[in-house]
Order: sequence, then C-alpha cells, then structure tokens
Amino acid sequence: MTAAAMVAEFDDVAGWTADAVEQLGDGYAIPAACRGSASPAALAWLAEACELSAGTTLLDVGAGVGGPAAWAARRFGVRAVLLEPMQTACRAATRLFGLPVLAADGARIPLRTNSIDTAWCLGVLCTVEDKAALLGEIHRVLRPGAPLGLLVVVASGRRSQPLPEGNHFPVQYELDRLLDGAGFSLVEQTTRPDIAPLSWSRRLEEVTAAVAAQHRADPAYRLAARQSERLSRLFSSGHLSMQLIHAARRP
Ligand SMILES: C[S@@+](CC[C@H](N)C(=O)[O-])C[C@H]1O[C@@H](n2cnc3c(N)ncnc32)[C@H](O)[C@@H]1O
Repeated sequence: MTAAAMVAEFDDVAGWTADAVEQLGDGYAIPAACRGSASPAALAWLAEACELSAGTTLLDVGAGVGGPAAWAARRFGVRAVLLEPMQTACRAATRLFGLPVLAADGARIPLRTNSIDTAWCLGVLCTVEDKAALLGEIHRVLRPGAPLGLLVVVASGRRSQPLPEGNHFPVQYELDRLLDGAGFSLVEQTTRPDIAPLSWSRRLEEVTAAVAAQHRADPAYRLAARQSERLSRLFSSGHLSMQLIHAARRP
C-alpha cells in the first residue's frame, strides 16, 4: 500500500483535512474525517447492527482521520481504539479527536488475542492486497462471538474505466469466501444508504473546498483528486457499489 497516489490520498490529504478543520471549527471534524464515505445513516446502521454500548471497546482498523470512531465514541460512549498505518493520518486523528491511535498495519495488530469487543473496518479492504491476512488479524484480536462491521466497495460486471491506483475491489463471492475463510459468519448485508443531511454534506464540502483552495497546486493534491475522480466514475457506471456488512467472529 505504498503507491504515491495512496500516500497522497490517505496521508497528505489527511493532514490538510485536520488543518482545515482546525480553521473552520470542531463541528466540522466528524463529517470531514469520515473518509470511507460513511454517511451518518451508514454509521448508525453499523452501530445498531454491532449493538454498540457505553464501555464497549471498538477497534477501528484503517481508521484514517478517525471520524467514524469519534462518531461512535460521542454517540454511544464506546472506548474507541484507532489503528492506522499512515503517520500523518494518525497525527491528524490525535489532533482532531484525542483518541488512542496505534500506528500499525492491520495485518499485524499490536493487541492481545481475544481482547476486543467489536471491530470496524470501513473502506479499507479494497485498499489492501492481502485481505485474508487483515481479516485473520481482526479475527484474532476479537473475542469469540464478537461483531465486525464492514464497509466494503464491491465490484460487479465489466469495467471500462481505470481503477484508482492500488485498489483491489473484491466481487461479492470473493468477499463471502474471504469472510468465511477468516472465521466470520455473515449476519446481514445491505447497500450503504446514500443519504446524508445537508448540514453534514455542507460541512464536508466546506472542508473539501478549504483544502482545495490551499493545496490545489500541490502534486499530491492532484494525485488524490485523480483517485477520487476514478472512483466516482466507477460508481456512476454501476461497476462499484458500497456494501455494509455485519459479521460475527466464529469461536
Ligand atoms: C478510504 S480510507 C477509510 C478511512 C476510515 N476507515 C474512514 O472510513 O474514514 C482507507 C484507510 O485504510 C488505511 N489502510 C490501508 N491499508 C491498510 C492496512 N494494511 N492496514 C490498516 N489500514 C490500512 C488507509 O491508510 C486509509 O486510512
């Protein structure tokens, strides 16, 4: 996961996002820091599916800037632990939310076996080549029977447009096989609800515009913008869809 475009997208833009939020205000932090395209409706679905409650330990693997974990901590009182390999993204999450962040790869989670109540992994699997290793590690750290919430970009049909660099989108049967092979049972799956209230989208757009105004000329900004344009075209053509998944760790 070292393609320059992915470093631009997940590290440089992460730091710029935190800068923009610090200028605009704390109310912008969560919408701007949900970078796996998790709408509040998607987060609520995952939270209810995983039966989050106060004191639950929630490990967010590939947490990015930390928006989803911070949302769960504020709304449900979970004890969130973030894991993210990109250093600037880790620092951005600490700056914005002050949550504990492990700077590590999801395929080598520095936590004890059977120590975590719930895990989320949102928009991450498609950026990882060895998905089985990542899911295997999540399985190891979760307690038996624990819920796993996933947001996965799934591919279908033929593709005529180029993929964003470094992305490997699974098709549905591959995803089913991966989950089963890693020791998870599928409980429920649904297509991600698109709707976000205007107040959420407006805050996200303001942060995006502030980042663009400041960094448009930067080569890393152009690389990250190309990644998201490619992704948008694949969604518009129907090649990709965003799926929410509730799975349970088999003993
Ligand atoms: C699309 S972003 C989603 C961020 C966050 N989950 C969210 O929804 O806002 C994908 C994230 O996965 C992280 N990632 C990529 N490879 C990873 C790996 N091997 N282990 C853990 N995280 C990884 C990236 O650095 C990036 O922050």
